[in-house]
Amino acid sequence: MRDVFGRPLRSLRISVTDRCNMRCRYCMPEDEYVWLPRESILTFEEIERLVRVFSELGVDKVRLTGGEPLLRHELATLVALLDRVRGLKDLALTTNGLLLARQAEALRRAGLARVTVSLDTLRPERMREFAKSARHADVVAGIQAARQLGFHHLKLNSVVVRGFNDDELADLIEFGRSHDAEVRFIEYMDVGGATRWTRDQVVPQREILERLTRRYGPIEPVATQESPAAPAVRFRLPDGTVFGVIASVTAPFCGSCDRSRLTADGTWFLCLYAARGVDLREPLRRGATDDELAGLIAGAWRGRSDRGAETRLGVAERGALYRLESLRADPHREMHTRGG
Ligand code: GTP
Ligand code: 5AD
Ligand code: SF4
Repeated sequence: MRDVFGRPLRSLRISVTDRCNMRCRYCMPEDEYVWLPRESILTFEEIERLVRVFSELGVDKVRLTGGEPLLRHELATLVALLDRVRGLKDLALTTNGLLLARQAEALRRAGLARVTVSLDTLRPERMREFAKSARHADVVAGIQAARQLGFHHLKLNSVVVRGFNDDELADLIEFGRSHDAEVRFIEYMDVGGATRWTRDQVVPQREILERLTRRYGPIEPVATQESPAAPAVRFRLPDGTVFGVIASVTAPFCGSCDRSRLTADGTWFLCLYAARGVDLREPLRRGATDDELAGLIAGAWRGRSDRGAETRLGVAERGALYRLESLRADPHREMHTRGG
């Protein structure tokens, strides 16, 4: 099944809750939020049912996200349900790590294969200021637990924001190396909740590479990338250390984007930047058959022409994508609702 630009439907990001126990400034900078109503949140059985339908249509990669996914009660139970879905080759989780040390073993046992932990700074006082959390040590403990339990290909996500953590690139590389984890530097995006976004806070991929070259010497692109649709481009330092850069702002990967995202209330977005999503909860709860759901999904995918990040490149006076009032008017526009 291909969209208007021939892109297949392969990767599904599922937000299991819009709540979060951090307040990263690039994602949730405000004091108050409009949350999705509790009764609208899909049950595990509803999520599993949708994943089965999606997998029949070509989805073979699922990533659980939030908000913070580990805030969803009994998440390992959902993992176990999804682990049994035929056709899924990859089941992964993106977490801020605060609750990971406590839950890692149950998740691994339930069948979770891969984990990515967000780690923007190694300095606890910076995390307190930037993400309003004093629990830096818990994140590090989560990363260590994930390593010890043998999750494949542990990754660390660092959103680079000028004036906040752009002096920590090498420190993060060293931390990744010592924890056997691959660091990915992410350009700060003007999505959803990034209401304080300005162009000058973005540290472009080119600059990230220049700075690391000055410190470590010549950097080479890694010949075998993960997949043509993966957002990160991988590089190797002279000593062999591999890291990635996700250049969503300066070098969008829309041309090969095979991903879509399901919010915790069952709204399906065909692009991170899409203004509207497809309501799958309503037909699901109305008693639609699998064929009806598949027809709805297939029809929407075939008409998909989104190239959100590329379109933003053409905006001359670029500021945050949404103003606060319009975010409040529809919580689906938030990054923490869409799942990063
Ligand atoms: P794998 O490739 O499976 O390892 O996962 P991932 O890298 O897609 O997942 P992760 O949750 O670690 O996301 C990393 C970053 O990629 C996010 O912080 C976003 O900045 C960026 N990203 C994720 N999804 C999209 C998307 O749909 N569009 C764009 N432009 N960027 C995205
Ligand atoms: N720009 C780039 N990445 C972001 N994330 C959240 N908000 C932004 C933003 N404005 C990232 C988180 C996490 C992933 C799921 O999304 O850091 O790693
Ligand atoms: Fe930070 Fe993720 Fe929570 Fe957003 S959802 S505030 S990026 S930890």
